[in-house]
Amino acid sequence: MIIEPKIRGFICLTAHPEGCKQNVLNQIAYVKSKKAIDGAKKVLVIGASTGFGLASRITSAFGSGAATIGVYFEKPPAEGKTASAGWYNTAAFEAQAQEAGLYAKSINGDAFSDEIKQKTIDLIKADLGQVDLIIYSLASPRRTNPKTGVTHNSVIKPIGEVFTNKTVDFHTGVVSEISINPATEEEIANTVAVMGGEDWKFWIDDLKAAGVLADGAITVAYSYIGPEVTERVYSKGTIGKAKKDLENASKQINDSLAAIGGKALISVNKALVTQASSAIPVIPLYISLLYKVMKQEGIHEGCIEQIERLFQERLYTGGEIPTDAEGRVRVDDWEMRDDVQAQVAKLWLEADTESLVELGDLKGYKTDFLNLFGFDVPGVNYQDDVNELVAIPGLV
Ligand code: NAI
Ligand code: NA
Repeated sequence: MIIEPKIRGFICLTAHPEGCKQNVLNQIAYVKSKKAIDGAKKVLVIGASTGFGLASRITSAFGSGAATIGVYFEKPPAEGKTASAGWYNTAAFEAQAQEAGLYAKSINGDAFSDEIKQKTIDLIKADLGQVDLIIYSLASPRRTNPKTGVTHNSVIKPIGEVFTNKTVDFHTGVVSEISINPATEEEIANTVAVMGGEDWKFWIDDLKAAGVLADGAITVAYSYIGPEVTERVYSKGTIGKAKKDLENASKQINDSLAAIGGKALISVNKALVTQASSAIPVIPLYISLLYKVMKQEGIHEGCIEQIERLFQERLYTGGEIPTDAEGRVRVDDWEMRDDVQAQVAKLWLEADTESLVELGDLKGYKTDFLNLFGFDVPGVNYQDDVNELVAIPGLV
């Protein structure tokens, strides 16, 4: 079939298998262009199909020659209906990995459930024995807690008072003012239940109890902080509370891993266009201004550049892992540079519908958004008939 983007708000209902494949090939080529990383050899990535998780899987496999197991929740294709992007990404990655002689298998299902955790443990036991790196990179709007059966929905809201600021509809470029009511206590608790650290703890507890964590294993979860302009809706809002909870979990997990000489770490990453971040109000305007400034400064990075740098220059240098005063690994250092933030803050005040065309990188935002679903990728012929029924080689 010929596949076109069908965009509804923050999502695209279709995905292009060839475009997704090309994105994966580009990421693999990037990692291969860098020097080899003396990293983990058996890696589990939870949230492995898109964004930072996919980049972590690619960096592990093609940077360190690692065997990888990926866990994700993606929609398979059906006759005349495309799969979700993460499905096609994974199909392309596993084909490339297996062709390169690297073990690559995956599990599609709800990572929050006990069933998928057990399935993952069984696969590790059967094929790898143990893992030495566990990347936790889930982004989800809801979670069913397997212990209580309760389904929690997250909200992106400020805490305490109404938040009013600018936002952009990145499809139309219209800048408008948005007011978001503060979250209730219940909404805060639900958001923490979804995006906080409880599930990460459950994962590591289960993996450890099953004896599938190698001595010295490390686990890394991804977080975000960001600047003052977004803090009321991000770092000081409901999602920020959840990220605080994730940080607290890292300390508890760290204590529990001490017995095997292991470590739990938070990596604070840069703001990027992903399916998760496009849905957060105010963030797309910030990202379009940030992209403009970082590209001008020659320090722009996408998911793969961020994660390659995280592995190469932070996690696997052979020495101590550098952290901030709170013990977090930082690869948002370039985003948070004083000169970068000063420029973004200035542009923020000036940005309106007319001026954003010049001031911001809306075009880069839109391209990145379409790229997430395999559209607008250079080198892909979108007029071609393609087979939507792509299989994932290592799907268990
Ligand atoms: P993403 O939406 O690209 O990836 C989410 C992944 O989670 C996908 O592989 C998806 O299949 C998987 N997933 C979601 N629900 C699942 C479930 N129930 N069971 C199994 N798999 C499930 O998101 P992104 O942006 O890569 O986010 C990953 C982490 O990075 C999040 O913790 C996010 O807060 C963090 N982060 C994101 C930043 C950004 O600007 N996008 C910046 C810094 C951190
Ligand atoms: Na991810």
